[in-house]
Amino acid sequence: MATCSDLPADAKKLEGKVALITGGASGIGECTAKLFCRHGAKVVVADVQDELGTAVCSGLGPAASFIHCDVTSEDDVSAAVDHAVAKFGRLDIMFNNAGITGAACHNILQCEKSDFERVVGVNLVGPFLGTKHAARVMIPARKGSIITTSSLAGVIGAAAAHAYTCSKHAVVGLTKNAAAELGQFGVRVNCVSPAAAATPLAMRYVGLEGEAFDMAMTAVANLKGVSLGTEDVADAVLYLASDDSKYVSGHNLVLDGGCSVAYPSFNLFKREESL
Ligand SMILES: NC(=O)c1ccc[n+]([C@@H]2O[C@H](COP(=O)([O-])OP(=O)(O)OC[C@H]3O[C@@H](n4cnc5c(N)ncnc54)[C@H](O)[C@@H]3O)[C@@H](O)[C@H]2O)c1
Repeated sequence: MATCSDLPADAKKLEGKVALITGGASGIGECTAKLFCRHGAKVVVADVQDELGTAVCSGLGPAASFIHCDVTSEDDVSAAVDHAVAKFGRLDIMFNNAGITGAACHNILQCEKSDFERVVGVNLVGPFLGTKHAARVMIPARKGSIITTSSLAGVIGAAAAHAYTCSKHAVVGLTKNAAAELGQFGVRVNCVSPAAAATPLAMRYVGLEGEAFDMAMTAVANLKGVSLGTEDVADAVLYLASDDSKYVSGHNLVLDGGCSVAYPSFNLFKREESL
């Protein structure tokens, strides 16, 4: 397993920085917490899964700290930001990553209002609160990087249910608006939009696991020969968190192998097998 110290000092991109990661107990958030630690960051993992989150932080040692946080609660989000500052002295990176899919309901007549509101609560209100409270401490510091996990479903239609699609489109808007406001304070705001990576959330939604999940995603992918892993998303988040992206703000970094720009029904380009 990756530890916090197995990179040479000059290869570390986040030395001296402090990050708060919501949804850091599992999947993309967990992978990012580990990568951030390897790059020298102190990391606060904020999640509703206390056991998993505590285990992730134990594996990372004193550079990591877990706090229970439901991102739909402003008190919890505010307390998580304050915890990062109290424990590690500052907050440089806010990763609004916690998310849920809601029901896999693809018939609007059957979609429940309560499900829609629950998904919007976690996936949109959560990042709004995370951005707000991160800005509270980043504005006086005159720097910071705020990153939110949107989705391929935040860029195109027909990739997920209505609630999820709306919430993920909306956080792209939040990213642009917050970047426009916070740039004057030296705070950058960006998002990442992954296609499918095999995490508990994605596998539950699709109803497939392991190899069957990978095969299904490969079949619908535009870019062949590679697949998207949580480590690829973590690498993109690292780029947006680090000074490598120091002039990038308001950007949506889409990680979909070109899926969203290739409209399959037009079928303009010959496929290799038919050449
Ligand atoms: N895996 C994919 O294919 C994929 C694709 C695009 C976008 N995303 C997005 O990536 C993000 C991370 O998801 P993942 O795929 O790693 O799934 P995951 O289920 O492994 O992780 C999601 C984490 O969010 C936490 N969480 C859920 N509700 C919360 C709440 N109210 N407060 C705090 N934490 C909460 C969960 O406990 C979990 O640890 C989500 O925003 C998801 O929508 C995932």
